[in-house]
Amino acid sequence: MRQSPHRAPGLLLALVALAALVAQAPAQQRPALWPFPRSVNMSPQLLNIAEDYFLIVHGRNSTAGPSCSILQEAFRRYYNYIFGFYKRHLRPARFHPGPQLEQLQVTITLEPQCDSFPNMSSDESYSLLVQEPVAYLKANRVWGALRGLETFSQLVYQDCYGALTINESTIIDFPRFAHRGILIDTSRHYLPMKTILKTLDAMAFNKFNVLHWHIVDDQSFPYQSITFPQLSDKGSYSLRHVYTPSDVDTVLEYARFRGIRVIPEFDTPGHTQSWGKGQKGLLTPCYSQRKQTQRVGPINPTLNETYRFLTTFFKEISSVFPDQFIHLGGDEVDFECWASNPNIQNFMKKKGFGKDFTRLESFYIKKILDIITSLKKGSIVWQEVFDDNVQVRTVKTPLGAECWSQWERLPAIALSQRGNKGSGAYRKGTWDDYREGASVVQLNSFPFNHFNAGSEKEKQLVIGGEACLWGEFVDATNLIPRLWPRASAVGERLWSPQAVTDLEDAYNRLAIHRCRMVSRGIAAQPLFTGHCSLEYRVEA
Ligand SMILES: *[C@@H]1O[C@H](CO)[C@@H](O)[C@H](O)[C@H]1NC(C)=O
Ligand SMILES: *[C@@H]1O[C@H](CO)[C@@H](O)[C@H](O)[C@H]1NC(C)=O
Ligand SMILES: *[C@@H]1O[C@H](CO)[C@@H](O)[C@H](O)[C@H]1NC(C)=O
Ligand SMILES: *[C@@H]1O[C@H](CO)[C@@H](O)[C@H](O)[C@H]1NC(C)=O
Repeated sequence: MRQSPHRAPGLLLALVALAALVAQAPAQQRPALWPFPRSVNMSPQLLNIAEDYFLIVHGRNSTAGPSCSILQEAFRRYYNYIFGFYKRHLRPARFHPGPQLEQLQVTITLEPQCDSFPNMSSDESYSLLVQEPVAYLKANRVWGALRGLETFSQLVYQDCYGALTINESTIIDFPRFAHRGILIDTSRHYLPMKTILKTLDAMAFNKFNVLHWHIVDDQSFPYQSITFPQLSDKGSYSLRHVYTPSDVDTVLEYARFRGIRVIPEFDTPGHTQSWGKGQKGLLTPCYSQRKQTQRVGPINPTLNETYRFLTTFFKEISSVFPDQFIHLGGDEVDFECWASNPNIQNFMKKKGFGKDFTRLESFYIKKILDIITSLKKGSIVWQEVFDDNVQVRTVKTPLGAECWSQWERLPAIALSQRGNKGSGAYRKGTWDDYREGASVVQLNSFPFNHFNAGSEKEKQLVIGGEACLWGEFVDATNLIPRLWPRASAVGERLWSPQAVTDLEDAYNRLAIHRCRMVSRGIAAQPLFTGHCSLEYRVEA
């Protein structure tokens, strides 16, 4: 494994270089760390790990003990990943005499209570010392221990005799960005619970820490509200295509056990056709030649009832989802329907908005932001809210801007500075790669220079990015292979230091990492011609 990656060449060169690599034999027997840690020192000294002699235990000085269910569960999970219990038909690992690794001791130094939810300032740092006969994993918080367990499991590999082996090593690691997200869209197609939980598994294997759940949209409203059950009764594809309160709890808990935050997105005032089916009068009636039509447009921002409904609705959302942020959407508002409606025209006149519908949009967004602020939550909005100059000066809780267009390929997310329109707080990106299914090679070779652009002050505002898998052409049949290992490339850009740009090394590591994901039940699609080496010869 290379210790000192050099800078990536340009995109074209990279593609040529990777084309040459594609024909190579994959998946040599060696550890492959993904995403690559901050600092890795490996020695040539090998230790054997035998199923019957190896334990993952709490360190003697750890502030977390057996009552820490997040850790207990993680110990069990990673023990199973390491010894391949996931698929019992693996041939048993051979045992070598010689130096042995007998224990991994996990010590948490600063966890007052183990039973919390991760948040944006969660400490995910850890250090790992692997030596004979005991390895030490140290972290301030349980979240760092989870990341360290993943890394430890990636260090273990089968040697050419089939025995499990690990190099003595020292690793110090922490993420480059605090927000490393995957967006799933459960409106365009309903995603079964199993698919969502698998996605969370794969996210943990790639050190992602935010599930951005674009849960409802024009096409369907699968979120089953406790206060307004008619929203999903009428707005879902069918009564089977809903997420009940218990489903949502399952997702939240499964994610928490993997150190993953869940940020729900309830996109308004556009993208809301499905809301209108269960909540009469919420959407704007569109007019044609002065006559009301059957068509409805975005949420009607002129009615007091709209804000009464949304206050109650978001009150529920803010208590169901524990994260400190709610994503409010705010993208692609269609002004045409608003403009056709005489009541809206009157309202515009009364407010002195002239013909500028961005001012009506601002009026609406500001009210929603104030509702979220009153619930003591932070908000995230798509870039249009800033493009259209919504005045955010009164927003007293954190506000994030997420960019999706005209920036090169990867949506980034930035916390705006209150009161200055988030100037330069975001950069732009498109999501087409994911939707169109661009090859892994392209994404993997992408230098992601846009994370490095901008002034120092601007760069400090960028809190991370997301791989957005929109659902128009994605359901349970193809979500996992379309997302993985593509999103792994995004995961590494968001976790690893900026200097990790050696494409050849990344390709070799990713090829093994993909096989490892397959061995753990993730149907990640191949990125090479060939086969996974013996130890990974399992089906998803
Ligand atoms: C791990 O140990 C083996 C055997 O000594 C050695 O060949 C290899 O280079 C080591 N790996 C690294 C990354 O140092
Ligand atoms: C535990 O703490 C004691 C006292 O602070 C220290 O001497 C010892 O080295 C620690 N043990 C480990 C495994 O960190
Ligand atoms: C994040 O969680 C930690 C630990 O639970 C807590 O101390 C901290 O205040 C939280 N931060 C925010 C911004 O909520
Ligand atoms: C809506 O609420 C505002 C502010 O409370 C009030 O001034 C206005 O009269 C209300 N409009 C209607 C139609 O009730």
